[in-house]
Amino acid sequence: KKGSYDHFMQKEIHEQPHSLTTTMRGRLKDGGVLLGGLKEHLKTIRRCRRVVFIGCGTSYNAALAARPFVEELTGIPVTMEVASDLLDRQGPIYREDTAVFVSQSGETADTLHALDYALENGALCVGITNTVGSTLSRKTHCGVHINAGCEIGVASTKAYTSQIVAMAMMALAIGSDQISTQARRNAIISGLTSLPNSVSEVLKLDAEMKELASSLIDSESLLVFGRGYNYATALEGALKVKEVALMHSEGMLAGEMKHGPLALVDENLPIIVIATRDACFSKQQSVIQQLLSRKGRLIVMCSKGDASAVCPTGSCRVIEVPGVADCLQPVINIIPLQLLAYHLTVLRGFDVDQPRNLAKSVTTQ
Ligand code: UD1
Ligand code: M6R
Repeated sequence: KKGSYDHFMQKEIHEQPHSLTTTMRGRLKDGGVLLGGLKEHLKTIRRCRRVVFIGCGTSYNAALAARPFVEELTGIPVTMEVASDLLDRQGPIYREDTAVFVSQSGETADTLHALDYALENGALCVGITNTVGSTLSRKTHCGVHINAGCEIGVASTKAYTSQIVAMAMMALAIGSDQISTQARRNAIISGLTSLPNSVSEVLKLDAEMKELASSLIDSESLLVFGRGYNYATALEGALKVKEVALMHSEGMLAGEMKHGPLALVDENLPIIVIATRDACFSKQQSVIQQLLSRKGRLIVMCSKGDASAVCPTGSCRVIEVPGVADCLQPVINIIPLQLLAYHLTVLRGFDVDQPRNLAKSVTTQ
C-alpha cells in the first residue's frame, strides 16, 4: 500500500497534488463553486450571527488557516474553539450560530461531544470531514466531505491541506451573493485551479528539507513564527515536529514576539520565520531584522525570488516557495514543514507512522 515510499506519512505528503485535485473535483463549476452538501443551507448560514470553528489538533489548525478568508469573503464574525476547551468552559453557543466541526476521522471524542453540546444549544451544525459515514458526518445537519482519500499516518498531512481547500470553497459558496467581492472570488477560484501544480512544485524541496533536517537533528527546540494567513502554518509546522520528530517546537504569532518570546533568542535556537508575500510582508521583514540583530539562527520561508528581500545580509538559511493567491499560501507553506518533520523523524530514528503515545483517532476524552 505504501508503494515506493518508506512510510505512509511520506506517501501522504507526496500525494497532495492528487488529494487536492479530488477535494475540488466536480465542485468548481462555470467559474463558481458548487458544494452539494451545503447548497440547501447557504441562506441560513448567510443569516447567522457568527461562525464558530471547532476542532482538535491539526483540524483546529486548518480552521485557523481558514478563518481570515471566511471572515473576508462572508463578512460574518468567526470565533475559534478547541473542542475540549469549549466543553471545559461550557462556552456560549446560540441558535443563531453556525458551528463548523472539522475532523479528519469524524470520530474524535472531544469534537463529537462538542457537537452534541452545540446541537443541544440549537446551532446549525456543519461538518468538514474526510470520512463518509463517520459519526460527525451523520450527526451534523449538513457538511462537506473533503475526499482526500484514506489517511493512515498518525500525523495528519494531506487532510490538513484538503480541509483548508474545502473551507475555501465553503467561504466562496457562502459569499457568492456578494457583488463587491466578485473579482476577489474569481481570483481565488483561479488560484484553486492551479494549486495542485504549485503543490507539485513545492514538493521538489524534498532534498533541501532533508538537508535542513540534518542540520537540526541535535537541536533541543525549534520555534516557528508566522502571522496573518500563516499563523496557522506556524502552529501546524510546530505540531508536526513535536508529534513525529519528538522535538520541542512552538508555533508563535510573530506579532507577539516582543511580548515574551524574544527573550529566548540566541545564536543556538533555530527559528523558522514565514515571510511569503501578503499584506503582512513588511511586518515580517522587520521581525527578521530584529531577530538578526539579536544574532538569531534564522531559517526564512519566502516567495520565489525574495531571498535578498527577506535577508539582505545573507546570514539566514532561505526556503523559497512558489507564490499562490495569498489566502491559499498556507496550503503551499505547510508542505516544506511537513517534509522537514518527516526527515527529522527518520534521521532521529523515531517511528514515523506510529509516534510514541499517540493514536490516529482519539476516541476517548
Ligand atoms: C455527493 C456524493 C458524491 C457524488 C456527488 C454528486 C456522497 C457521500 N457524496 O457529493 O459521491 O459524486 O454528490 O453530485 O454520497 N454531510 C454532512 N456532514 C458532513 C459531511 C457531509 O451532513 O460532515 C452531508 C452533506 O450535507 C450531504 C452529504 O453528506 O448531504 C454528502 O456530502 P458531500 O459528499 O460533501 O456532497 P457532494 O459533494 O454533493
Ligand atoms: O480526526 P481528527 O481530525 O478529529 O483528529 C484531530 C487530532 O487528533 C489530530 O489532528 C492530531 O492532532 C493529529 N495527530 C495531528 O497530526
